[in-house]
Amino acid sequence: MLIHVSHLYKKYLVGTTETIALADVSFDVARGEFVAIMGPSGSGKSTLMHMIGALDTPTSGTYILDGEDVSKLTDDELADIRNRKIGFVFQAFNLLPRRSTMKNVMLPMMYAGIPKAEREERAKKYLTLVGLGDRLEHTTNQLSGGQQQRVAIARGLAMNPAILLADEPTGNLASSQANEIMDIFKDLNKQGHTIVMITHEPDIAANAKRIITIKDGQLINDKKNKG
Ligand SMILES: Nc1ncnc2c1ncn2[C@@H]1O[C@H](COP(=O)(O)OP(=O)(O)O)[C@@H](O)[C@H]1O
Ligand SMILES: [Mg+2]
Repeated sequence: MLIHVSHLYKKYLVGTTETIALADVSFDVARGEFVAIMGPSGSGKSTLMHMIGALDTPTSGTYILDGEDVSKLTDDELADIRNRKIGFVFQAFNLLPRRSTMKNVMLPMMYAGIPKAEREERAKKYLTLVGLGDRLEHTTNQLSGGQQQRVAIARGLAMNPAILLADEPTGNLASSQANEIMDIFKDLNKQGHTIVMITHEPDIAANAKRIITIKDGQLINDKKNKG
């Protein structure tokens, strides 16, 4: 299993108010799946995304990511596994606006110490894969929202992650551009990429091959979908 989540709890304490954001959540994701995690606002989606993305650790329970136990890691160890295993795609694309698409995709690879020639080759390859082969020199503020999100996807893929983890990836997009992004996710999944996508929109979740629904921090449904 690529993702093994078992009896996961996350409690937040603010002053004297305790919130149980995740309560006894268990599921597995195999390599090659395309899973949507769906639920209304406040249901615990972002909290679960932070756990899966090794941005935070659970209060109790177990999380094994690609054979490594993430539940009890230090901050430095979390950062390391995050860089090796997870390609993030966020609602707000998190790009550098005045830099080229190539630069944006190459930057995380530079921090990871990947040699320049290899960085350029991979950036070109993944930008072309998401349909931006003719936008290599454009700065990201010269692109549409959908194109910007495609740059973010190329940036995530270029690090060769085990999982592409997307948090409301179409939240800032008009529906035609949202559909473009979903088509890219479906293509990537066909090519073998594992995708976990967080969304509150049933229409967007419907693109995945499996839909996990959470409500009030609990997993209430886990079903196959035609995608
Ligand atoms: N850092 C935090 N500190 C305290 N409470 C939090 C924090 N993050 C989320 N919560 C609470 O946990 C619950 C789940 O939030 P969240 O995971 O953001 O849900 P969603 O992403 O589905 O809207 C909410 O009640 C929220 O108020
Ligand atoms: Mg959220």
